[in-house]
Amino acid sequence: MIIVFSGCGNTAAVAARLAQITGDSVVRLDASLLRSEAPRLAVAGPRVVWAFPTYSWGVPPVVRRFIARVELSGAADVPHVMVTTCGDDIGECAAMWRRDIRARGWQARRVFSVQMPNTYTTMSGFDVDAPAVADEKLAAMPARVAGVAARIDEDGPDDVVRGSWPRLKTRVVYPWFVRMEMSPRPFRHTHDCIACGKCMKACPMANIEPDEDGHPVWGDACAFCLGCYNVCPVHAVAYGRKTARKGQYYYGLPSRCR
Ligand SMILES: Cc1cc2nc3c(=O)[nH]c(=O)nc-3n(C[C@H](O)[C@H](O)[C@H](O)COP(=O)(O)O)c2cc1C
Repeated sequence: MIIVFSGCGNTAAVAARLAQITGDSVVRLDASLLRSEAPRLAVAGPRVVWAFPTYSWGVPPVVRRFIARVELSGAADVPHVMVTTCGDDIGECAAMWRRDIRARGWQARRVFSVQMPNTYTTMSGFDVDAPAVADEKLAAMPARVAGVAARIDEDGPDDVVRGSWPRLKTRVVYPWFVRMEMSPRPFRHTHDCIACGKCMKACPMANIEPDEDGHPVWGDACAFCLGCYNVCPVHAVAYGRKTARKGQYYYGLPSRCR
């Protein structure tokens, strides 16, 4: 069983391909599961694979909250595996996930990372990949996922890109990022908005409602996945001024550089 959280489609694509090979069923974490105070699921199959994007070298807060709350029957009887997608590197994200899984009394086994095109744009200095770089990562994905599938039931060292300064990034930057950089407040639509509703449909938290003209209004239950920003066909979702000159990437749509 693969439990997947995905904002911009990368992790969903990796999970779907993995499931094709392993025969696992896929459960997508949507608003009904992520916003529930007491979500319930039952384990199907010989393992639980947790698939999610790396956020600021850690586990997305909505995924951590779900792990802490879910009543997952059968979870203590099977090994748990982490598959995270990232633009570059994951720091000590694996250690954070292991702690969360063990806190539930479950067995954390193997950990993998899969590089995919970057989706993060809301801080200065960070932007989506150039199309050639994104294409290269996408071309490498099938072989990488086949390699993950081949070793998913083996014990072994973490098969991840930790990057430089992993402790600092996960232990210092992650908590700061979650506190200071993940607010949905600066999201707004620009005058280019065509009220197509794609941002609302893409939101895994069902956190975006239309106003009387069909334009998006953001609530407080944001996962900060940037699905709304990246999926917009006319670059009309802005995060304050920080995304004015940034590109967009959403799995399956053409990358757009500004
Ligand atoms: C809020 C946020 C933080 C991110 N932090 C990292 C990071 O620390 N390291 C990294 O390599 N990629 C980072 N990324 C990029 C994503 O992990 C990567 O693009 C991922 O494949 C997106 O998956 P998704 O399309 O399923 O949402 C971040 C993306 C977002 C939106």
